[in-house]
Amino acid sequence: MSGRVAVIGAGPCGLSQLQAFESARRGGARIPEIVCFEKQTSAGGLWNYDWRTGTDAYGEPIHAGMYRYLWSNGPKECLEFADYTFAHHFGQPIPSFPPRPVLADYVLGRAKAFGLRRYIETNTVVRQVSFDQDAGSFAVTVRNRDKDEQRTEHFSHVIVASGHFSVPNIPHYEGIESFPGRVMHGHDFREAREFKGRHVLVVGGSYSAEDIALQCHKYGAASVTISYRSAAMGFHWPDTVDERALLASIDGAEVSFSDGSAKEFDAIIFCTGYLHHFPFLDDELRLRTGNRLYPADLYKGIFWRANPKLMYLGMQDQFYTFSMFDLQAWYARDVVMGRIGLPDGAAMDADMAAWSKREEALPDPIAQIDFQTDYCKDLHELVDYPHFDLQLLADNFKEWEHDKEHDILTYRDKAFRSACTGVLSPVHHTTWLEALDDSREAYLACG
Ligand SMILES: Cc1cc2nc3c(=O)[nH]c(=O)nc-3n(C[C@H](O)[C@H](O)[C@H](O)COP(=O)(O)OP(=O)(O)OC[C@H]3O[C@@H](n4cnc5c(N)ncnc54)[C@H](O)[C@@H]3O)c2cc1C
Ligand SMILES: NC(=O)c1ccc[n+]([C@@H]2O[C@H](COP(=O)([O-])OP(=O)(O)OC[C@H]3O[C@@H](n4cnc5c(N)ncnc54)[C@H](OP(=O)(O)O)[C@@H]3O)[C@@H](O)[C@H]2O)c1
Repeated sequence: MSGRVAVIGAGPCGLSQLQAFESARRGGARIPEIVCFEKQTSAGGLWNYDWRTGTDAYGEPIHAGMYRYLWSNGPKECLEFADYTFAHHFGQPIPSFPPRPVLADYVLGRAKAFGLRRYIETNTVVRQVSFDQDAGSFAVTVRNRDKDEQRTEHFSHVIVASGHFSVPNIPHYEGIESFPGRVMHGHDFREAREFKGRHVLVVGGSYSAEDIALQCHKYGAASVTISYRSAAMGFHWPDTVDERALLASIDGAEVSFSDGSAKEFDAIIFCTGYLHHFPFLDDELRLRTGNRLYPADLYKGIFWRANPKLMYLGMQDQFYTFSMFDLQAWYARDVVMGRIGLPDGAAMDADMAAWSKREEALPDPIAQIDFQTDYCKDLHELVDYPHFDLQLLADNFKEWEHDKEHDILTYRDKAFRSACTGVLSPVHHTTWLEALDDSREAYLACG
């Protein structure tokens, strides 16, 4: 078929998109020309460990903010590719909460097995995307950093898969310029041992705050205080970890909190989330949203309402990750290839309004899990992505939530059942708290 599709980013979402087209091609379909631009030197997105912080060798902002000793914070069964299972990739059953190198190996393993590399131009940053109304196509300007060359190409469709957890949101607090210790955002956190014996303040009340606090505890911080804005996470923290209301001001090393308490710290780590930031998109194409389950202006959570030839993948707040990205990618592919038609504007608006209204009324994480499960089911209904048991995944997520409430230090020691194979994973040979080596080899070694 005719058409040219630009995919921006070869992280998990971009790779899902390439996989969707490649699977159609292998099924005998004629697919459009696909070009995926990736600014890093290899695919993998955030799952690439980067020792650098700040800017890279070419002066571009560092994308990846994963740190040493990062383990999956959700069961791997909840992100398993239905067309490429963990059992298939590793040739052996593996436990439910792998460390970063193991998941990176899995994501890149599927890409290698399906030959996706040939669609990707690495070390190539997208600088500008504009839509030409007269031509009905997008002009995409890229810079190949190997060659130090800029060029503009034209595409019928653009799929934005550049992620939304790489540009840190960094608030200002009165007196912070007087703080004598280390101040950083979680995006620049790499090595928990840096904080051994230190008193650490973590600001934020979500996954990064939770995990970076636990990392610091695990690797020997003297104490960790988590300061939240909206609500305490309320887990049963170890004795050296506590939660307090939001910080109010800073005077030298002493931090005052809005509950009237104060404490001295050696370091402050902002785990205050990320910005949806698309400096390469023209204003009229640019998604503006916070981190939510149903971002506005995206029909089916994918299609830019004002111009559905522009698509976004993975822009939601995420319980589901890789499996949801696959479903989005399959759906986007089928619209691009004319297998699925888009309804008229009024029908799109009505559909988006119904999802948004439901999102606004969600009372708790259990309802949020059901919401994102239903969103995935809605996508799955129309595409030929292999069957997997989404209801089992929803149950897995709910069990995981309960495990965390029961004991935040042991939830990663649990085992879950695959929604693709039905097989229950083995329990890992070492508990998460005692496992200090996060290498692939150590993880896959038999107990
Ligand atoms: C610290 C941290 C830990 C996480 N841990 C987990 C976890 O345990 N389990 C889980 O399921 N999810 C986790 N996530 C969520 C994570 O967002 C997803 O797993 C996944 O990486 C999202 O994929 P993506 O492709 O949307 O984005 P990314 O992984 O961010 O990939 C986007 C890609 O786009 C490229 N790119 C960006 N801008 C440009 C440009 N202008 N030109 C060319 N290329 C560009 C980037 O280089 C990158 O390769 C974590 C996120 C963070 C921040
Ligand atoms: N594998 C792992 O272990 C791991 C580790 C880290 C992160 N992650 C992933 O990374 C992604 C991002 O998580 P995240 O926690 O960084 O972002 P997030 O979920 O968007 O949460 C951002 C947090 O910052 C708080 N915040 C924002 N502005 C603030 C301000 N001005 N002052 C105080 N607090 C402020 C928010 O508070 P409110 O609640 O008040 O809005 C919220 O608690 C998630 O998908 C997560 O799963 C995974």
